[in-house]
Amino acid sequence: MAINESRSEIDIYSELIANFTHQIINPLNGVVGTLDNIVEGHVASAKRDQRLRAAAAQLINTIELVRNLAFLSNLSTKAGRQSLRELSKKSLIPRETIDAIAFFQELAKQEKGMEIQLLDSTQYWVKGHPDLLRQVFTNLLDNAVKYGDKNTAITVSVHEQKKTGNLILEVKNLGPGFDFNERAKIFERGFRGIGARSVKASGSGIGLFICKELLEAGFDAKIEAEYSSQSRETTFRIRFPSFNLEEKGIYVEG
Ligand SMILES: Nc1ncnc2c1ncn2[C@@H]1O[C@H](COP(=O)(O)OP(=O)(O)OP(=O)(O)O)[C@@H](O)[C@H]1O
Ligand SMILES: [Mg+2]
Repeated sequence: MAINESRSEIDIYSELIANFTHQIINPLNGVVGTLDNIVEGHVASAKRDQRLRAAAAQLINTIELVRNLAFLSNLSTKAGRQSLRELSKKSLIPRETIDAIAFFQELAKQEKGMEIQLLDSTQYWVKGHPDLLRQVFTNLLDNAVKYGDKNTAITVSVHEQKKTGNLILEVKNLGPGFDFNERAKIFERGFRGIGARSVKASGSGIGLFICKELLEAGFDAKIEAEYSSQSRETTFRIRFPSFNLEEKGIYVEG
């Protein structure tokens, strides 16, 4: 392919940084505005708590965005990727996903009347750091809320797949989904689906890229996406190659 047919790495990075900057500055300005209004007495006391809660949610989202940026920088060098692998801790699934679920539970309810349900309670150990898994979950749930239908449920489930010996973790939501031919592209850095742009104008197309890379670098795990237009069900499926069952808090070697 001729050089001028493909965007250079520098083009991609400067576009991403411009996009991230915009997405970080906007909510921060919103929070400053809210705080100014409260300090200057322009917000009725009955509405103060609600405005402060909304500002806190905006700050949390911004923190997650900056975390994605930090992970992106880690993932862009060999040494950085290696450092993620060397975080040799173990993660308990679905336990380590619960904080992300709790945060989005509130947001999903307030913004779109959606509910997040954790369907399984059996706990499994996988090799890989909980912070990475938390970031993966934050990105998946952010998408499920952003692109999912109002007043529907998002489900999180975990099961062992006998045939492959994999541990499967699935996040499902109902919504307009994505085109069949976008199914692999959505994991590329900077790619946003056609449908997504009409649902929400802002976004960097980076969330799923980070999920895929963190899962590969930190867990040797794979992620795939599926959409059924018949059931309107979008599924993100993570495959952990090996796992151990947790029993009564004891780590059992498989
Ligand atoms: N739950 C979902 N339902 C439908 N489409 C989805 C869903 N999750 C992701 N997608 C599609 O995959 C694309 C890439 O997702 P990704 O999270 O990487 O980027 P984004 O959400 O557009 O932006 P960012 O996460 O950087 O804010 C989205 O633009 C959308 O087209
Ligand atoms: Mg996203």
